[in-house]
Amino acid sequence: MSGAKNAALPILASSLLAEGKSIYRNVPALGDVRTMGRLLARLGAEIGEKPAGTMTVDTARITELEAPYELVKTMRASVLVLGPLCARHGRARVSLPGGCAIGARPIDQHLKGLAAMGARIELEHGYVNARARRLRGATIVFDVVTVTGTENLMMAAALAKGRTALENAAREPEVEELARVLNKMGAKIRGAGTSLITIDGVDELHPIEHSVIPDRIEAGTLLVAGAITRGNVLLRDCLPEHLDAIIAKLRAAGAEVAADGDGIRVRGKADLKPTDISTQPFPGFPTDMQAQMVAVCSVADGASVITDTIYLDRFTHVPELRRLGADIQLERNTAIVKGVDRLQGAPVMATDIRASAALVIAALVAEGETCISRIYHLDRGYEHLEQKLAALGARIERTSP
Ligand code: EPU
Repeated sequence: MSGAKNAALPILASSLLAEGKSIYRNVPALGDVRTMGRLLARLGAEIGEKPAGTMTVDTARITELEAPYELVKTMRASVLVLGPLCARHGRARVSLPGGCAIGARPIDQHLKGLAAMGARIELEHGYVNARARRLRGATIVFDVVTVTGTENLMMAAALAKGRTALENAAREPEVEELARVLNKMGAKIRGAGTSLITIDGVDELHPIEHSVIPDRIEAGTLLVAGAITRGNVLLRDCLPEHLDAIIAKLRAAGAEVAADGDGIRVRGKADLKPTDISTQPFPGFPTDMQAQMVAVCSVADGASVITDTIYLDRFTHVPELRRLGADIQLERNTAIVKGVDRLQGAPVMATDIRASAALVIAALVAEGETCISRIYHLDRGYEHLEQKLAALGARIERTSP
């Protein structure tokens, strides 16, 4: 497995909290990671990308404090520079993310938290302007569980004066990983991985070396690929404890999934069973695996009901899967998937990172050839997925650069 995209992005942003050169390893070569590199470079950081898998960020000369629209609109995680810039430089101007393929995705919780920590927040011309001479600790209760919101405020609080309590915080492994990184930098954070995170602000943080945790969503996607093809796939370098909800659903669908040495092995069975899913914040079933499970259920023996409670509009894969012959009805944020005997290859279009993974998975079992266009969406979040699948026996190739 490659390094985790959603861990690497906040970790790269956290480099802004210290002055000097941080070295990150096991950084996946992904579109979104390159976008974060471009953003940090734009702020004045010096970025090194050698050897492969290593990224160095030198923040000795930060000259700009703005995340411009053209970068935020291609990657919403750009908003992760808001907390660090505000905390260390007292000021940040970050474009407001607009809508995106998976829904509205507001950042009101990030802004509410910064305001509670004493930042003056103004919205003008599509940008958030945040200012604070020094942020101060506060008790913040999130109205919704937000991953990047928790990460942004945890980074801001690390350099604030006094104690911050983040209540109803996200418990995702990527939040825990960021807390590990911040603590290595000298922060005082307790409770990450639970819904109450306490941060005692310090005056200064220092650069570090760190190796990023493996990507649980990439692992889940490959487990699903193994299950749908009735394959036998061993995943190495993954952390099974991050995959409990995904493994439980694959087992319910009839796949055999078991620990195997330092990895996980999936063995697909002849008949896939239907399974109902409702996405939830961690440790529940992740929204980032919803599209891939819709693909699996589209060839199961019966009807499955799959609800996304996190992103109500995250179903752009459904019309494309229907082009492959899937029988899926959408009722608001619920997909009713009636398994069909076989899917048929067809030209389809990728619309977001996980939707494109779902199309690849369906195409693996569709009769004949499927041609997926706009795979830059796939490349935003999966490192050489076609090579990993080809190594497992899939007939898959990249036909344009
Ligand atoms: N929300 C608000 N207000 C906010 C923030 C969030 O209402 O201020 C809502 C969102 O609209 C959504 C819910 O809260 O309904 C959860 O959103 P969250 O903020 O947790 O999402 P995110 O932090 O923007 C991260 C991942 C996503 C993943 C979600 C949910 C990163 C860089 N991105 O996004 O990953 O789907 O958490 O787990 O960590 C992906 O990798 O394909 C991806 C989209």
